[in-house]
Amino acid sequence: MNRIIAPSMLSADFGHLERDTQMIDRSAAQWLHIDVMDGVFVPNISFGFPVMKAIRKATDKPLDVHLMIVDPEKYAVRFAEAGASIVTFHYEATYDARRCIDLIHASGAKAGISIKPATSVEVLRDLLPSIDLVLIMSVEPGFGGQSFMEGSLQKIADLKAMRAELGLATLIEVDGGISSHNARTLFDAGADALVAGSAVFGAADPRAEIEKMLNA
Ligand code: DX5
Ligand code: ZN
Repeated sequence: MNRIIAPSMLSADFGHLERDTQMIDRSAAQWLHIDVMDGVFVPNISFGFPVMKAIRKATDKPLDVHLMIVDPEKYAVRFAEAGASIVTFHYEATYDARRCIDLIHASGAKAGISIKPATSVEVLRDLLPSIDLVLIMSVEPGFGGQSFMEGSLQKIADLKAMRAELGLATLIEVDGGISSHNARTLFDAGADALVAGSAVFGAADPRAEIEKMLNA
């Protein structure tokens, strides 16, 4: 199984967004993770379409968009049209996950569902055959730089078992408090993709940190 690293652009220097995006473009990271927060689903506001457009212009790598917004069905299509390869919304943020998945697929992007630390992977059982990715939050969504919640390891294992039981190839992505210190444990537990914000952009050599995570 391939290991994927998705640096979170939330921790980039927004005064030098083109420079930081190009730096990730030249790194071994396969995706760029885009955190969109609305100040309602999470107690923080990040950025929207204009910033994503600037990132899209500076790299050809897939944009892995993580929507932390209520009623994601209202905006999911616009994110796909703005160049997202994967649009992931929160299970807790919508009453109509199926419609959201269908809208994302109809606009040509892959669809992901994210769950907060308190949400069990079991809630995804019926939806799993219809989605391409599950994003397990290993911190409470809203802010970069928080500590990894160890309970997430069991959720990765549970999801891996459910995926095998259903005979699916759904990607498992994990987000929050990840660095080269715990990357190995997470890949070994069954993660296919790891998001890292502060560990990458806070490193003296971000591209070396990415390599370390990939080779952990
Ligand atoms: C948190 C975001 C994360 C965040 C990760 O709500 O979804 O993607 O940027 O940041 P670190 O890697 O610093 O925990
Ligand atoms: Zn994220």
